[in-house]
Amino acid sequence: MKISGIGSSLPKQVVTNQMLAEILDTSDEWITTRTGIKERRVLSSEYVLDLAVDAAQKALVDANLEAKDLDFVIVANVVNEYVTPALSCIVKEKIGAKCPCIDLNGACVGFIYACDIAEAYYKIGRVKNVLVVCAEAPAHMLDWHDRTCAVLFGAGAGAAVLTPGDNIITTRLTSSDGWDRLYEMHDLQWCPFDKKGSTNLPLVMHGQDVFRFATSTCVNDLNVVLKEANLTADQIDTYFIHQANLRIIKYIEQMLGQPAEKFPTNIEKYGNTSSASLPILLDETKRAGKLHEGDMIAFSAFGAGLVSGAMIMKW
Ligand code: COA
Repeated sequence: MKISGIGSSLPKQVVTNQMLAEILDTSDEWITTRTGIKERRVLSSEYVLDLAVDAAQKALVDANLEAKDLDFVIVANVVNEYVTPALSCIVKEKIGAKCPCIDLNGACVGFIYACDIAEAYYKIGRVKNVLVVCAEAPAHMLDWHDRTCAVLFGAGAGAAVLTPGDNIITTRLTSSDGWDRLYEMHDLQWCPFDKKGSTNLPLVMHGQDVFRFATSTCVNDLNVVLKEANLTADQIDTYFIHQANLRIIKYIEQMLGQPAEKFPTNIEKYGNTSSASLPILLDETKRAGKLHEGDMIAFSAFGAGLVSGAMIMKW
C-alpha cells in the first residue's frame, strides 16, 4: 500500500504556557525547557468527532477519492464522546462511506498500528482504498490541577487515505510490560451489586519511567527497522517521531547521529496529540513542500501499554 492522501484538523482554542501558568504552579520557562512545548490546542466548541470528520474529508480530497470508494475505515482513538458505537461508525456515516469500520486503541502508536493492520488487509487482497483516521483529545483525560500532566497534551486529528502500492518497506510493533506507568480507568456507572466503588480517576503517568521507555524503545525500534530494510540511518530523508517531548526527539537524533533538519517537529504548537501526532506532522511537512516522491521516511512512536512501533516507507 501507499499513502495517497493526508489531512489534519485542530481545535480553534489555543492554550499557551502563559495561560497554564495562570492556573497552575508552572512557568513558560519550565515547560519549554523540559518539553519544548509552547502552546497546545484544546477542544472548546468542537468534539473529537468533528476533528476526525474534518481530517478524513481533507485526506479524501487530497487523494482525489470519494468516501464511497473506501473499503475499510480504521479510527485510532483513546477517548472520545461516545462509549458506543465505535467512533469509526460515526465518522464513516458522516463522510458517507459504506464500508466496514473499526476503532483501534493503540494509544500514541495508533497510526503505525492502523497502517500495519491495513497492510495486512492489502496483503490478503481484501481492500483497495482504506481510510485511517487518528483523532484524540488527551487533554480531556487529565486532572487539570496536575501540572505534571496538564502541560503535556493537546487535541487534534490526522487522517491518511491508503491505496494499492508497495511503498511500505518494513514495520515493527512491540509491547512491553509497564501498563501501570501510564493509564486511566473508565468512569463506570454505579451498580448496586458492585462493591469496588467509583473508578473516576484522572490519567496516571510516571513521567520519568515513560521517558526512559520512550528513548530506549525508539532508538531500538528504528535500528531494527533500518536493519530489516537494509538501510543506514543516513539513507532516511525524514524521521517522523511521536511528538511527546522535544528532549526525546533530540536524544533520538543524537543516538542515530542524524541532523536536526531531518526531524520535523510541531510539538511547540500542539503538544502531545497521541496517535494524531504522526499524521498531523506528516500533513504539515507535506504541505510545507518538504516531502518528495521517492523519499525514504521513517516513523517511530511509543505510548501507553507500554507499546511502540516503527515503520519505514517510500514516499
Ligand atoms: N511545572 C513546574 N514544575 C514541574 C512541572 C511543571 N509543569 N511538572 C513537574 N514539575 C516539577 C516536579 O514536581 C519536580 O519537582 P521537585 O524536583 O521539587 O520534586 C521537578 O519539576 C522535576 O520533575 P521531573 O518529573 O523529574 O521532571 P522531568 O525532567 O522528568 O520532566 C516530564 C517531566 C513529564 C516532562 C518528563 O518526564 C517526560 O516528558 N516524560 C515522558 C512523558 C510522556 O512522553 N508521556 C506521554 C507518552 S505517549
